[in-house]
Amino acid sequence: MRIILLGAPGAGKGTQAQFLMDKYGIPQISTGDMLRAAIKEGTPLGLEAKKVMDAGQLVSDEIIIGLVKERIAKADCEKGFLLDGFPRTIPQADAMKDNGIQIDHVIEFDVADEIIVERMAGRRVHPGSGRVYHVVYNPPKEEGKDDVTGEELVIRADDVEETVRKRLGIYHDQTKPLVDYYRAEADAGNTQYHKLDGTQAVDAVSAQLAGLLG
Ligand code: AP5
Ligand code: ZN
Repeated sequence: MRIILLGAPGAGKGTQAQFLMDKYGIPQISTGDMLRAAIKEGTPLGLEAKKVMDAGQLVSDEIIIGLVKERIAKADCEKGFLLDGFPRTIPQADAMKDNGIQIDHVIEFDVADEIIVERMAGRRVHPGSGRVYHVVYNPPKEEGKDDVTGEELVIRADDVEETVRKRLGIYHDQTKPLVDYYRAEADAGNTQYHKLDGTQAVDAVSAQLAGLLG
């Protein structure tokens, strides 16, 4: 099964990717997590990406498309994958199509901007795995610690409110057009498009997903 999770920053893509990976046994391909790993390792890509990400802007299509193509070619993607945070521009979506990479389901997470700002303010992440928590809505078992490894949770550098609002603006300008793009793909019979209510509690959103994916 090949799935695209489409939604604004903070809509819950990473949170539900965790659920879907466990349920369907397919890997999560999060371009954001891949870039953050490159930053941590201090690679040339990481050094370049850090400035762009901290400013809430998008990394170039060329770099991102290269990263994803390389990742999809790996053996663990043979039975499917979950794209989280990609594609987020029309050229990125076109690159998938041009490379003959078919997608079974596109899932849009619908969440209003003001809810997102509140979610980001309370987000904590485990840098090693990409696991995501929220201090109120999805707290870890032990405060400030990852449930699996017990390691420290951190606040993402781009979760400052000003940067979150910038990222939301970029989402509306550059990524939202993908809603019409994939609706048209679905009308042409090339994929299935689903819109879900991302404002419900984490478990309720997971239940919606399980219902529509089977
Ligand atoms: P990326 O890491 O992809 O960030 P994003 O798209 O901005 O999305 P987020 O990770 O912020 O949100 P999410 O939807 O995963 O929400 P989450 O589940 O964490 O990208 C970061 C940057 O990298 C970009 O700005 C860009 O610079 C660059 N980049 C990445 N991909 C790129 C690409 N393809 N092209 C170009 N540049 C790219 O949830 C958020 C919070 O809400 C958490 O605290 C969570 O616990 C909580 N929460 C989740 N669900 C619920 C719920 N149902 N109810 C209550 N709280 C909830
Ligand atoms: Zn995420």
